[in-house]
Amino acid sequence: MIGQTKALILVLVMVFGLFWAGGIPSLRASELKVQQMLKKSTYVGMDVCATCHEKEVREYKFSTHARIKIKDDTTGAEDCEICHGPGSTHVDNGGGKGTIINPKRDPEICFTCHTDKRMQFRLPYHHPVLEGKMSCSDCHDPHGIDVMPWTATSENAVNEVCFKCHNDKRGPYIWEHDALKDGCTSCHQVHGSVNDKMLITSDYNLCLRCHATATYPLGHGTRWAEGTCWAAGCHQAVHGSNFNNHLRY
Ligand code: HEC
Ligand code: HEC
Ligand code: HEC
Ligand code: HEC
Ligand code: HEC
Ligand code: HEC
Ligand code: HEC
Repeated sequence: MIGQTKALILVLVMVFGLFWAGGIPSLRASELKVQQMLKKSTYVGMDVCATCHEKEVREYKFSTHARIKIKDDTTGAEDCEICHGPGSTHVDNGGGKGTIINPKRDPEICFTCHTDKRMQFRLPYHHPVLEGKMSCSDCHDPHGIDVMPWTATSENAVNEVCFKCHNDKRGPYIWEHDALKDGCTSCHQVHGSVNDKMLITSDYNLCLRCHATATYPLGHGTRWAEGTCWAAGCHQAVHGSNFNNHLRY
């Protein structure tokens, strides 16, 4: 009897141990498996992808990355495979998930060219892309005509992509702050920043870039010593207000 119990415990320990050794299955681990698998893969070219992904190929031909020429590239990757890696394993398997890089889950491949971006997402205040909670493609349109869908040539309003997740900033407010018409990025550094709330600067210089000191009524000079322009009791409603025309609350 005791022998049986011991055996049972041993089995349980072994089963548990297996899980333990494997760790909690994580997205990163599964992506590492893909990377490992792709070591034997080769590049096949966009025409092959087109046989199954007609829509992506059609869109991609007009996209930002299709228009650029990549200098000093020695990988042999072109078109789709600059972002999805060598595709032969995927194609040999008849397509399917988990046999090719999907930058939605793993942005590493973007960093091979955009080397400065990894560093930006490591700054103390950042969008949680490296944590796997969101991806480059939540804001950028990798296949579409404009990888930055808010640029001048696009039909989208400048802040539309941000409102997908921060809809409370959309308003309408009775007193709008015209700064927002220039875009959220006139105050925020959205990949990452050393400043809280991903602000471009942490003090009143954020506001002085547009508001010349001369136009301030008396008393502002001493107020600045108390903190930022958006400190308690001052212009707290920086995104717009329904209550106060000086955006105080
Ligand atoms: C034989 C058909 C076929 C070919 C050829 C093919 N794919 Fe796929 N691909 C698929 C199928 C099927 C899926 C799974 C779709 C799904 O489950 O939603 C897929 C999924 C994908 C995914 C998502 C994978 C994931 O894990 O999320 C990517 C990225 C992709 N393909 C890129 C490519 C690229 C790039 C090429 C060319 C190098 C290519 N495919 C060639 C059939 C194909
Ligand atoms: C600039 C990088 C880039 C290029 C170039 C690129 N893709 Fe993608 N692709 C992405 C990203 C990022 C995603 C994840 C999008 C998302 O959030 O669903 C993706 C997703 C996909 C998917 C999965 C879609 C789904 O619904 O799951 C397929 C299929 C795909 N790409 C095919 C292609 C094909 C075919 C080409 C070439 C014509 C191509 N891609 C070129 C970056 C790229
Ligand atoms: C093979 C290299 C390469 C890869 C991989 C790559 N890019 Fe690019 N990307 C470029 C180049 C080159 C440009 C144009 C020059 C520039 O502005 O940096 C560009 C432009 C861009 C731009 C627009 C820049 C502008 O000023 O208009 C964005 C946004 C972008 N890429 C995002 C991504 C994302 C997201 C990924 C991954 C899904 C990715 N890129 C993967 C090389 C690459
Ligand atoms: C929260 C939204 C968001 C996410 C997520 C995001 N970006 Fe951006 N990205 C932007 C905005 C907004 C700009 C324009 C910045 C500006 O105009 O000041 C931009 C600009 C860029 C540019 C061109 C300008 C430059 O700074 O060089 C590149 C390249 C780029 N992003 C790459 C990436 C990559 C790679 C990822 C994922 C690792 C990513 N972005 C994730 C919003 C985002
Ligand atoms: C896909 C959803 C998504 C999109 C799109 C998005 N964000 Fe975010 N944003 C988040 C998440 C998630 C956080 C992190 C919240 C947290 O850590 O509590 C965040 C945080 C922020 C913060 C800091 C908030 C704080 O309390 O510290 C700012 C500022 C911000 N985003 C601005 C923007 C701007 C500007 C854009 C458009 C360029 C944008 N976001 C697009 C999801 C998104
Ligand atoms: C005039 C400068 C300015 C502009 C433009 C701006 N913000 Fe902000 N934002 C701020 C400041 C300042 C804070 C910090 C407020 C605080 O700490 O009380 C902030 C905080 C935030 C926060 C975190 C706190 C909160 O209120 O939820 C989010 C999210 C945010 N902004 C999103 C956006 C989005 C989305 C846009 C574009 C629609 C935008 N911001 C445009 C200045 C600005
Ligand atoms: C991108 C430019 C820009 C930035 C940055 C900016 N503003 Fe503004 N702001 C404007 C414009 C334009 C108006 C409307 C015209 C005016 O009254 O000067 C305005 C109006 C205002 C008003 C209403 C004016 C009144 O009647 O009292 C207040 C308050 C204000 N801003 C505060 C701030 C604060 C606080 C910051 C920093 C967090 C800031 N602004 C940053 C452009 C900007």
